[in-house]
Amino acid sequence: MTSLLIGCGNLGKIILEGFIKKKRKISVLEKNIKVRKNIKKKFSNVECFSDQSQVNWNKVNYIMICVKPKDSKKVVSEIKNYCNKNHVILSFVAGLQTKTISKWITSKSSVLRIMPNIFISSNNSSTAVYADKLNRKIKNKISKDFGEFGDIIWVEKEEKIDFFTAMFGGGPAYLFYILSCLNKIIKKNGFPESESLSAIKLLLKGVLEDINKKNYKFSDSIQTVASKGGTTEEGLKVLSQRDNLFKLFEKAIMSAEKKSKIISKKLE
Ligand SMILES: NC(=O)c1ccc[n+]([C@@H]2O[C@H](COP(=O)([O-])OP(=O)(O)OC[C@H]3O[C@@H](n4cnc5c(N)ncnc54)[C@H](OP(=O)(O)O)[C@@H]3O)[C@@H](O)[C@H]2O)c1
Repeated sequence: MTSLLIGCGNLGKIILEGFIKKKRKISVLEKNIKVRKNIKKKFSNVECFSDQSQVNWNKVNYIMICVKPKDSKKVVSEIKNYCNKNHVILSFVAGLQTKTISKWITSKSSVLRIMPNIFISSNNSSTAVYADKLNRKIKNKISKDFGEFGDIIWVEKEEKIDFFTAMFGGGPAYLFYILSCLNKIIKKNGFPESESLSAIKLLLKGVLEDINKKNYKFSDSIQTVASKGGTTEEGLKVLSQRDNLFKLFEKAIMSAEKKSKIISKKLE
C-alpha cells in the first residue's frame, strides 16, 4: 500500500521528504509541471502523476490533500469517482471542514482534518487531528503514523482546529517575526548580523533548556531574570503595561482563527 500526496508545494514537499526519510511508500499527484520535474530530479524513485487516472487507487491507503483552499473543491471533484470506503482522506487544507469534504466526495471514505506546521520536517510539529466518526483501529494507526512527526493532538470539536491552525500552524511565523524584530534592534545597535544570529540562537537554546526543566513555570524564569530594581524589570514594565503585548498576541491569533472560519464558510 502507498500514501498518495495531492499537491506538493510548501507543505507537501515537507511531508514528502518526511515520508521518504522514514522509508514509507508515497506517490504524488501534482498538476504543476515544474514541481513534478523537481520531484523527479530529487527523488527519482517516487511515482509522480499529473492526472488522477494514472493512479492505481487500489494500492492507496492515505489520500493526503495538500493544496490551497481555493483548489480543494476541484481536487475533490477530480478524485471522487476513484475514492472508496478503504481510503482514508487526510485534508491539510486550512479552513476546509470534514463535512464539506464528505459532501463533495459522496463515497464512504473516512475523512480527517489534520493540521501540522512546518516543523513536521524535523519531527517537531504539534499536529491537531479531527474526525467526525472514526473507528479506533484507524485512529490508532493515524496516531502511530503521524506521531512520528511530533505530537498528535486529537480534538473533539472541529472548531478547535481553527484555533490550532491560527496558533500552531502560524506559530512558527509569529516566533520568527519576533526574532526578526530582535535581530533588527540588535543590528540597529551596531552588532553585525552574524553576531546577532549567534546571540539569538544561544538565547533560544537557553530558553529551551530552561523550559525542559521539571515542573517548569514561566513566571519563575521571568522572576529569575527580572531582579527587583534592575534593568529587565524596566523592559518588562513596557512589555506588560496594561497587558498590551498579551492583548496584541491574542488579537493576532483570534484574527487568524477568524480567517480560518471565513475560509470554511466560503468553501461550504
Ligand atoms: N505552509 C504551511 O506551513 C501549512 C501548514 C499547515 C497547513 N497548510 C495548508 O496546506 C495547504 C497547502 O499549502 P501550501 O503552502 O503547501 O500550498 P502550495 O505551495 O500552493 O502547494 C500546493 C500545490 O498543489 C498544486 N495543485 C493545485 N491544484 C492541484 C490539483 N488539482 N491537483 C494536484 N495538485 C494541485 C499546486 O500547483 P500550482 O502552484 O500550479 O497551483 C501546488 O504545487 C493549504 O491549504 C494550507 O492551508 C500549510
